[in-house]
Amino acid sequence: MTYDIIIIGSGIAGLMAAIEAKSEINRVAIITKSNIFKSNSAIASGGINAVIDENDNTQIQEHIDDTMKSAQGLGNKKAVTYLCKRAPHIIKKLCDYGVAFDKDEKGKILQRSFGGGSSKRTCFVGDSTGASITQALIKKAKLSGVEFLVNQYVMDITKIDSFVSGVVVLKRIDSSVIVYPAKAIVLAGGGYAGIYRGFSTNAQDCTGDLLSVALRAGLSLKDMEFVQFHPTGFAKTSYLISEAARGEGGYLVNSDGERFVHELGTRDVLARAIFEQIRKGQKVYLDMRHLPLSVIETRLPSLYKNAYNQVGIDISAELLEVKPVAHYSMGGIEAPFTCSSLKGLFVCGESASLGVHGANRLGGNSLLEGAVFGELAGMKAKEYANYQNFLPIDYNVVIKDMSLVDRIFEGDCSKNFNAMRISVGKIMFQKVGIFRNASSLQEAFDYMKYLRLESNTLHCIDKDKNNNVELISILELRNALELSEAIILGALKREESRGAHYREDFPLTCKGAKRHILIKEYQKGFFKVAYEESKIVQFIKKLLID
Ligand code: FUM
Repeated sequence: MTYDIIIIGSGIAGLMAAIEAKSEINRVAIITKSNIFKSNSAIASGGINAVIDENDNTQIQEHIDDTMKSAQGLGNKKAVTYLCKRAPHIIKKLCDYGVAFDKDEKGKILQRSFGGGSSKRTCFVGDSTGASITQALIKKAKLSGVEFLVNQYVMDITKIDSFVSGVVVLKRIDSSVIVYPAKAIVLAGGGYAGIYRGFSTNAQDCTGDLLSVALRAGLSLKDMEFVQFHPTGFAKTSYLISEAARGEGGYLVNSDGERFVHELGTRDVLARAIFEQIRKGQKVYLDMRHLPLSVIETRLPSLYKNAYNQVGIDISAELLEVKPVAHYSMGGIEAPFTCSSLKGLFVCGESASLGVHGANRLGGNSLLEGAVFGELAGMKAKEYANYQNFLPIDYNVVIKDMSLVDRIFEGDCSKNFNAMRISVGKIMFQKVGIFRNASSLQEAFDYMKYLRLESNTLHCIDKDKNNNVELISILELRNALELSEAIILGALKREESRGAHYREDFPLTCKGAKRHILIKEYQKGFFKVAYEESKIVQFIKKLLID
């Protein structure tokens, strides 16, 4: 089966890309490793940032300024400007696609406060905004003729010279490895915060597979050290407590009943403040008891229900214990304005590092980024595929992936990959978490290196090829270990504190380090880590080459 354009990932970025890429005559497919409703976008509950009036330049400028400020010196002005200027159009488009944002009695879209925002600009659907948006987009994509290839795990992309030519997938149903030739490919498969298993709002399989695919294809990862810790997850289950709870007026209090931080600060500041309380032996709670029940029922219905179902707490009358949890990855595949260094390969959403979040993302800007740059990636992929032919498949890659699957099935093993995954999450949170330092990072690095060797000896205990859960988990773990090393190496290299990256041994922000860190695999299992060259050096090099 061939497709003009293949999009990998069914979150907001992938869906927007697919809808935009589809025309009457081309074939477009979305590949997803599980079902189409499961994505990180679907759990982003609190809202999507946008100035609604496209002519309100003052408000749009404020959105740009807030985003740049939160990015702490590493935001890309052009990309941020594009993001914020495109936002009013995106909201209109989402409404046209059937997203029913909450409105006032006059039909005006309601907006709530989110951390780091200088005004109320977060549009929402109660506290299940991401799920509402993705459901509307899935409907729209299906109506447009986009095909969905579900339960197919992407192992690699194939290329010829610097052009992409296809996608190699493992079909869960029978563990067969096949390749789909494609003219253009969009990577939109989410981030890697799920690596912090047990300490993350993400599903356990959100571990950045596509970033590993990108590394194997010779691409660079950017700013991997910037992992965003959401200030509030359920203390017991890590389930996301939307920022909407604080946007609607909830307080953060410690065991002494004291408020200790401004609740609408940026996430990096709040996560550290909460974690410091916990380190001092305090517990931290979300206090919603002063809010009218009608606000809780209408604006935070999911939280109201989930707090009761998961931990037995009635938030209208009781305190809800919270802890900071890994939520989002600012780092990702380098792809300025969605264009990777491979022709025909576009990247968007959390898989990408497009420069709009820098060292710390504003809450509410992730759904926006997914929609805005998903749309752009889709437009670019369509334009590219219009004049491109199918290119030959490099079957060496396909055979290598087939052999890997065979090897994992063949051997015997008594090692417990699940225990390994849990321990990766724990060590990453403890040593590469909200606070890090050289020795904690080095310890984590040595451990990940050891586990990486161990992971080569993992085999399926269950040899049934139909829907084998172990096989995918082992492949995910191998990727997650590779990316853990990349996160740690970035964190070791950045000897300063900036945004979400806080080094106890380098607590200050260093002006000279206002640069991005790039990571590339130069030989299997070995990374090259370097600060991005300054614009002047890049310019001189280009002159010399030209
Ligand atoms: O807190 C939240 O509702 C999450 C939103 C986001 O990550 O943008």
